[in-house]
Amino acid sequence: MMKIIRNIAGMKNEIYRHFLDGNSIGFVPTMGYLHEGHLSLIRESVKKNECTVVSVYVNPTQFGPDEDYEQYPRDLDRDRKILTKEGVDYLFACKDKEMYPSGYKTYVEVHDLQDVLCGESRPGHFRGVCTVVLKLFHIIKPDYAYFGQKDAQQAVILKKMAKDLNVDVEISVMPIVRENDGLALSSRNKLLNPEQRAAAPCLYESLQLAKRVLLEGEKNSDKIINLIRDHINKQKCAKIDYIEIVDKNNLKSLPQIIKGKTLIACAVYMGQVRLIDNIMI
Ligand code: PAJ
Repeated sequence: MMKIIRNIAGMKNEIYRHFLDGNSIGFVPTMGYLHEGHLSLIRESVKKNECTVVSVYVNPTQFGPDEDYEQYPRDLDRDRKILTKEGVDYLFACKDKEMYPSGYKTYVEVHDLQDVLCGESRPGHFRGVCTVVLKLFHIIKPDYAYFGQKDAQQAVILKKMAKDLNVDVEISVMPIVRENDGLALSSRNKLLNPEQRAAAPCLYESLQLAKRVLLEGEKNSDKIINLIRDHINKQKCAKIDYIEIVDKNNLKSLPQIIKGKTLIACAVYMGQVRLIDNIMI
């Protein structure tokens, strides 16, 4: 039977029992409104560990003042039902007042990596992500933690944070799960209107187009970026935030594609909804 834990002391107590029993602990942090993308991480954790904890917490510190914190979809009862079926041991759903009590002062930053790509248009976003994930790592003390390639920059930053701050956790990054038309699954997809939803596969299509041109021998990043831009701009409701070609490890711009080393990433606004996607070359 899955247990729902709503406070930090309760979670620590449960984890301590598993620690004494020598069980390996797998952890999947989420903001809820679960979909198949989340479930791929959760299934991996359940398969590989004796105990799996999934956190559902819409973290206020990773949203900017003009972002969709209020609109972000929430349905804990729905998430609870889904997780019960997956054989998860604990659903950890901490309350805001306990995660960030009044007078809260401490934040974690991963310099440079946090400032590029999504960090440029979402200042403070990765500071919020790192802070909450480090807090969750301290509460749950997982042996293994699972993240999605959908948020490629987030995975790079969190691996660096864990290494720099000596957190004993092994981080696995799982492939992007997509709809049949290529749109990467995201809790935010629910916020798309029908016109925006119909246009949304343009991110994936443009990345596939880039891959094709690359296989035909084109290596110049600017040319590939232009191709991606032109494809996305065919959609009236799409507004490009960024398209970048970077080193997949340090996220620095690459003027030329280098096989095995390259991440092509884009972010596009469909109205107010910000979609991201990427491929690795
Ligand atoms: P959230 O957007 O809920 O995503 C939770 C995890 O699911 C992340 O690791 C994300 O990369 C992964 N994920 C989301 N969509 C996916 C897809 N289509 N395919 C594969 N994996 C996917 O990312 C966050 O929450 C937060 O920033 C969090 C890490 C929980 C910190 O608040």
